[in-house]
Amino acid sequence: MSDDRNLLPHIPVGPNSLLSRRRLLQAGGAVAGGLALSRITRAGAQQPPPAPNELVPPPDPPWSAQGQPFTTQGIRSPYVEIQRAYSGGDSPNVTRQTAGSNFAPLQDLDGIITPSDLHFQRNHSGTTIIDPAEHQVLVHGMVDRPKVYSMDDIKRFPRRTEIHFLECSGNSGAGYSGPSPDTTAQLMHGLTSTSEWGGVPMTTIMQDVGVQEGAEWALFEGADASRMDRSVPRSKLEDDAMLVYIQNGEPIRPEQGFPLRLLLPGWEGNTQIKWLRRIEFGSGPFYTKEETRHYTDALPDGQSRQFTYEMEVKSLITWPSAGHQVPAPGFWEINGIAWSGFGTITGVEVSVDGGNSWGPAELMQPVLPKAHVRFRFPWVWDGTPRVIMSRATDDTGYTQPARQRLLDIRGTQYIYHFDAIQPWLVDADGAVTNAMGQSASDLPSDTQISEEYL
Ligand code: CO
Repeated sequence: MSDDRNLLPHIPVGPNSLLSRRRLLQAGGAVAGGLALSRITRAGAQQPPPAPNELVPPPDPPWSAQGQPFTTQGIRSPYVEIQRAYSGGDSPNVTRQTAGSNFAPLQDLDGIITPSDLHFQRNHSGTTIIDPAEHQVLVHGMVDRPKVYSMDDIKRFPRRTEIHFLECSGNSGAGYSGPSPDTTAQLMHGLTSTSEWGGVPMTTIMQDVGVQEGAEWALFEGADASRMDRSVPRSKLEDDAMLVYIQNGEPIRPEQGFPLRLLLPGWEGNTQIKWLRRIEFGSGPFYTKEETRHYTDALPDGQSRQFTYEMEVKSLITWPSAGHQVPAPGFWEINGIAWSGFGTITGVEVSVDGGNSWGPAELMQPVLPKAHVRFRFPWVWDGTPRVIMSRATDDTGYTQPARQRLLDIRGTQYIYHFDAIQPWLVDADGAVTNAMGQSASDLPSDTQISEEYL
């Protein structure tokens, strides 16, 4: 456990903000420096920080002018810039792209729910727009009563609401080859998001059509131009699969499969077919292109693993992370997210000394199975170069591996399911970069990081 946890300034913060601020200002230069910086950000002006004992009142509120009129839909503050980032970069062609990935801004988000308009996208042939009044879902194959459901039919079934993460199985894939130092949390790990999903349990549909004995698999097919389809074993359908049409309190967005998608909590996103139009039950897997040519895992001995469904345990520090600037030495609260496709996160440890020592982070409520969990960890930064990282463990006992241990097992032909520990370098000037894939000799000598994490 890190000794840094014992260096925390113990500051009582009362409801009286003036008193609290005065106490904070008196509590030490490091904390006062942090306050001064937030004041500069709020005012939007570059002014020198006040002397440690100088109490500067905030600017007057804009009482003299009316605010903006009511609108039918909310907007973000013009001072808040958070957006997705397309895998092809910022080229002018981005608005015409239909295949690829669009990463959620993990380093700018908090809590566990991803705002729906910032949820990551992975499309093979664009976002399909479907009129729900016309949409139908065929369920057939090894069933006693083949049926065609309208969306109204689907919505009549008793519903369930659950919070789960989605993650593209190619998320974090840059970890196999090694990311560049400027690769952010967003561009490295942003193909995951968590939402509250509402819909009908798959078991309800299975009872309605009468799935036959021996129908151990089902094919799910989407209505997009790529006709995305995947095979899913019956055991998962009977465990926790849902057909969902609600995301964060409103109909799911076209980007997420409106009007209906498959939800397979904890499994790779590709299996959770969007714009769902057909379900066919059969005795075995259907061996579609997406589970033979793609979404298989090449091992060092030349064999490939197939039907690798669960997304393993992962965590990362989202603040501070690559692209951030730690403003000054002193007290800061590290925070990040952890999740497991196997079950529930039971612990996250944080190292602020390159993996030489680890201390337990606090898991913030709610801690839900197969959902992002937010963690935090108090840190007093001494101003020297530091490699900071997190490692998560779940209730099946799986702990995130160091990168070199993962590469030893999987080699570098693997594309999917990268879940190794993510190291960030906080340099002496506070600039944060991605340390993964760098050589220890390229990092400041006093980071003392063990090579296995790089
Ligand atoms: Co897989």
